[in-house]
Amino acid sequence: MQDLITAKVHDESRQGEAYAPFANDINDYNKKFYIESYGCQMNFSDSEIVASILQGEGFGATRNYEEADLIFLNTCSIREKAEQTVRKRLTEFKKIKQAKPSLLVGVLGCMAERLKSKFLEEEKLVDIVVGPDAYRTLPVLIDGAESGQKSVNVLLSREETYADISPVRLDSNGVTAFISIMRGCNNMCTFCVVPFTRGRERSRDVDSILNEARQLFEQGYREVTLLGQNVDSYYYVPDSLSSMSNEEFTPVTFAKLLEKVAQISPELRVRFSTSHPKDITDEVLFTMAKYENICNYIHLPLQSGSTRILQLMNRTYTREWYTAKVKRIREIIPDCGISSDIIAGFCTETNEDHAGTLSVMESSAYDMSYMFFYSERPGTLAARRYADDVPEEIKKSRLKEIVELQNRLSYNSNKKDVGKTFKVLIEGNSKKSDADWMGRNSQNKVIVFPKENYNFQKGDYTMVRVNDFTQATLIGEVVNV
Ligand code: 5AD
Ligand code: SF4
Repeated sequence: MQDLITAKVHDESRQGEAYAPFANDINDYNKKFYIESYGCQMNFSDSEIVASILQGEGFGATRNYEEADLIFLNTCSIREKAEQTVRKRLTEFKKIKQAKPSLLVGVLGCMAERLKSKFLEEEKLVDIVVGPDAYRTLPVLIDGAESGQKSVNVLLSREETYADISPVRLDSNGVTAFISIMRGCNNMCTFCVVPFTRGRERSRDVDSILNEARQLFEQGYREVTLLGQNVDSYYYVPDSLSSMSNEEFTPVTFAKLLEKVAQISPELRVRFSTSHPKDITDEVLFTMAKYENICNYIHLPLQSGSTRILQLMNRTYTREWYTAKVKRIREIIPDCGISSDIIAGFCTETNEDHAGTLSVMESSAYDMSYMFFYSERPGTLAARRYADDVPEEIKKSRLKEIVELQNRLSYNSNKKDVGKTFKVLIEGNSKKSDADWMGRNSQNKVIVFPKENYNFQKGDYTMVRVNDFTQATLIGEVVNV
């Protein structure tokens, strides 16, 4: 059963891609690693930390696994389907390993954390197993594996944020980059495996975040996305011993962090993901409204539109509370893009609950959603407490209705944009034609437009008027205003 249908590109559509650093000459290194990332943006961002650690050990990245000495899969456990994909890939690599015994294969990320040494003992598929908080020990683990030892480190940490590690940007367009601002999650949504695989929530040192953003800007990047499982609960208390001024004693909230990043330059766009509806504050919304370069776009997962189901999910808000939050966002930032995550067929969900989800989607008028079947994850609170009792066929038909509704909402949202003019950050050539540029507006919508005789480069801003649209893309032309 396919467990993911999206109206637009989802991170998981990137599955199977491999990345090589854009800036380094592979011939500088005598050993090569190949890394594939699965799942959320956080995993892609973690792979850039892993690449940095490996480069420090003399490994260069390759896009071709056949020439690699070391293959890593950075894995996702969020749904069963994600794990199945990784298992399939591991059996493929096992065959390659049989032909090349010196090859080391490692599993990183959430699946490593969830299954621990099972990978080594039962399945004999891999040589190295490393959880999300243990990447600093990779050099020791690789050494161990090279001399035939079992190499596992799945210890979770309460402090690790990799603050001092400068990520090696993988497969970068040189314009947009992710910055991880916190790790872990304390929310304990009952369906979710993340609190178990990524551990307790912790916020990264504010100065290290600002330095990373400044450096990216100096290198020509024009957009940063601040990443965390729940960015609105970012809270950093500077070390009082080393602080000199009162300003430095003050704890930094997410709103304050956003402001500090936005102040780096008006030419640097700032985005963030993901927001929990219970934690996003008016202060954040007013900060977004105050700075033109903080993008007017919020990913605000609903999960379900039924208060009873939300309670079973431990989301800690009701449908009315969620709807009021959307209203508040639109009051403070009238043109804000809003997207959502929706789960169809959570335990005990009735037709009435499902109708509640559709009605909140409709009233929220989402521009885009990521939509899933409920997939029971071992060890989660839902798996322990509730029966996964909605039949697969019903999950499927409800998901279909959710997707159809979202398609209609996305269509309406795009249609409303026809005739409007947006400031667009150019990210590169359009996928279909080198004669067209592809960029995004503040609301995170992709806009394609002809290059004509304008002398733009990627990383430039331009005003584009929308003339037409497809399901996932606005189509426009440059206007001089
Ligand atoms: N089944 C289906 N979807 C899930 N998500 C998280 N856990 C599950 C699960 N067990 C979805 C949620 C979350 C997104 C990242 O993945 O909608 O917001
Ligand atoms: Fe999972 Fe909920 Fe945390 Fe998101 S907020 S990572 S859904 S526990």
